[in-house]
Amino acid sequence: RPRVLSGIQPTADSFHFGNYLGAVRQWVALQDDHEAFYCVVDLHAITVEYDPKALRERTRRSAAQLLAAGIDPERSTLFVQSQVPEHAQLAWVMSCITGMGEASRMTQFKDKTAKGGADRATVGLFTYPILQAADILVYQADRVPVGEDQRQHVELTRDLAQRFNHRFGKTFRVPEAYIVKETAKIFDLQDPSSKMSKSSSSAAGIIDLLDEPKASAKKIRSAVTDSGRDVVFDEENKPGVANLLTIYSALTGRKISELEDEYAGRGYGDFKKDLADVVVEFVTPFREKTLTYLDDKAQLDAILAAGAERARAVTEPTLAKVYDRLGFVPGP
Ligand code: TYM
Repeated sequence: RPRVLSGIQPTADSFHFGNYLGAVRQWVALQDDHEAFYCVVDLHAITVEYDPKALRERTRRSAAQLLAAGIDPERSTLFVQSQVPEHAQLAWVMSCITGMGEASRMTQFKDKTAKGGADRATVGLFTYPILQAADILVYQADRVPVGEDQRQHVELTRDLAQRFNHRFGKTFRVPEAYIVKETAKIFDLQDPSSKMSKSSSSAAGIIDLLDEPKASAKKIRSAVTDSGRDVVFDEENKPGVANLLTIYSALTGRKISELEDEYAGRGYGDFKKDLADVVVEFVTPFREKTLTYLDDKAQLDAILAAGAERARAVTEPTLAKVYDRLGFVPGP
């Protein structure tokens, strides 16, 4: 079976619709015919200023949400990145074959430092994509299910794998990004020209999975729509409506063309009201399940510890092979 690996940052109290529709939903589907590794990337979360207490809480909340979304810890290996030391160890190695220029071209770093300037960013934020490459390569993953904004990081990962293989002999599998076109980029409800994002979206523009369902319904009903009144999928001229159609279609499994037909001649009001109901139906049980998982922290921690142990059965041999290729003297 092919292998998949993906990760998500525990940097907010809740995942949002972009995280879920762009990535996590695919993680759940891929468990069926893949050997799956999914991690909460706490090492990545410390690249920006944060509060340690909040991080611990958010890491558990992230794991609980992944379980609520349908990640099955029996079939998939679900774990916390910092509990598997080979990620950070391989990241050091990969940083020694990454060019400064190459790392400087990563757009996410440029975006994140656009305001404060690169001088105020940490070195960790700069090398963030190299750690991400290590996350993927240490599992010999074939596929990496992510949203569009992670494509460049997966490209870097491929370059580094090929470079290492070329220089030191075939060691890594070269992974591919797995990006579902329809939901690769979910947009801000208030500003449909930019992506839904925990760091830059306004509260009204982002739907958090753990929000009060009523609040989410309200956000859908007050989402920015475009001039005109036809519910048609036109990303160029009607990005707001197109985004809502994408969300509607993804949550119900109904085709966009079918939805266009259903709402033909009915205007935006009906459409948004129905989508608000669809959203409530989705988030209500999701929220309840997440809170149930969070009720038993000991059990949650045990699931994650078991996942880390299973992960290490894969990462230790990879790192041993890498160290050997690099010319390190074997240890005890
Ligand atoms: P993160 O935590 O920002 O986001 C998690 C996943 O959600 C996707 N995503 C979106 N998809 C569609 N529309 C949106 N508006 C949207 N917003 C977020 C992201 O593309 C991502 O797949 N660097 C990664 C975490 C990471 C990782 C990895 C991923 C660390 N190591 C190894 C894959 C493999 C990140 O910051 O994702």
